[in-house]
Amino acid sequence: KYQDLAMTPPMGWNSWNKFACNVDEDMIKQMADAMVSSGMKDAGYTYINIDDCWHGDRDAQGFIHPDPKRFPNGMKALADYVHSKGLKLGIYSDAGSQTCGGRPGSRGYEFQDAMTYASWGIDYLKYDWCNSEGLKAEGAYKTITAALKHAGRPIVLSICEWGTDEPWIWGQNVGHLWRTTGDIYNCFDCIKDHGSWKAFGVMQILDKQDGLRRFAGPGHWNDPDMLEIGNGALTAGEDRAHFTMWAMLAAPLIAGNDLRTMNKETAEVLTNKEVIAVNQDKLGIQGFKAIAEDGLEIWAKPLQGGDWAIVFLNRTTSAKKIDYDWSIQSIYDDINKLAASFKATTYKIKNLWDKKDKGTATTKKAFKADLPAHDVIALRLTKTK
Ligand code: GLA
Repeated sequence: KYQDLAMTPPMGWNSWNKFACNVDEDMIKQMADAMVSSGMKDAGYTYINIDDCWHGDRDAQGFIHPDPKRFPNGMKALADYVHSKGLKLGIYSDAGSQTCGGRPGSRGYEFQDAMTYASWGIDYLKYDWCNSEGLKAEGAYKTITAALKHAGRPIVLSICEWGTDEPWIWGQNVGHLWRTTGDIYNCFDCIKDHGSWKAFGVMQILDKQDGLRRFAGPGHWNDPDMLEIGNGALTAGEDRAHFTMWAMLAAPLIAGNDLRTMNKETAEVLTNKEVIAVNQDKLGIQGFKAIAEDGLEIWAKPLQGGDWAIVFLNRTTSAKKIDYDWSIQSIYDDINKLAASFKATTYKIKNLWDKKDKGTATTKKAFKADLPAHDVIALRLTKTK
């Protein structure tokens, strides 16, 4: 089935956040190599996604071709290379006449483009919404869905409509993920005003997910945009917080940094398998903010087997002492009717960012820890017998 292509949130890499329009085939091949050598592939990352500006012109018959200078060997050869590494290749287009970067859009060429992508061996399409005047979002995205299905190759569809027309309402059987907001900006807690549009820091994007969790699930995910981890603006703690919160949101984990040159700290964040397991949990339940007080938030995400991920997020600029008595209140997911009742059940606690933690603490005792500014503590709670 179409939705089976993304039963857990897609994981991969995309060129836009770091490279913008500077994409070419050598760089994409190197990124595929780095995906393997860095351990990211082993951690579950699969897609190598080319964003805007790969395009050349349409020919006299209307077929789109890649920029011959940037992609001299063509997309089929590039897809073959990426596939030979055990990875998948993604590409980008736009529902309108032109992409956001002014390249040819797919409007009027939807079926032809989908067939072209399928013939190249493309596995993932991010479909943007610039220059779409006169189109209705739901109909425009349904057109490309129909075109992709007609082309006959399984291709994940990433709806990039920025949340304006509430894609979470109609996106479920149309695409596999839908952007919920405008673009992410490479800062932890700020808004970048571009004049005609705004871009949002990690915390601003997080807040914009309120109320959307009921729409996500296996095969169809809220997309709070791609990761800025390792792109230089965030501190180590902020990188951890960004990654952890995207895991809690059951968000697609699409790295946006230069995988070829990333340092050990960045690689360790992006490949933390226990945090990734929270994101990739088979239940596919998006986490929620359970408690918020003085800039300290406690987030919860129900996991398989009655486990819970619990995250303490410090949004303030000063350190906090955590002394959390579990027995004070149970945590309840009112959409899925799942509860962690700390009076009735004792859970073992494993700290997912502390490599020394052996997981011997339990919810019988208060949880004590120091939580630096702009950082998280991520725990996995497992029922004891
Ligand atoms: C829009 C999208 C971004 C990126 C650019 C490319 O802004 O939201 O993610 O794809 O277009 O031009």
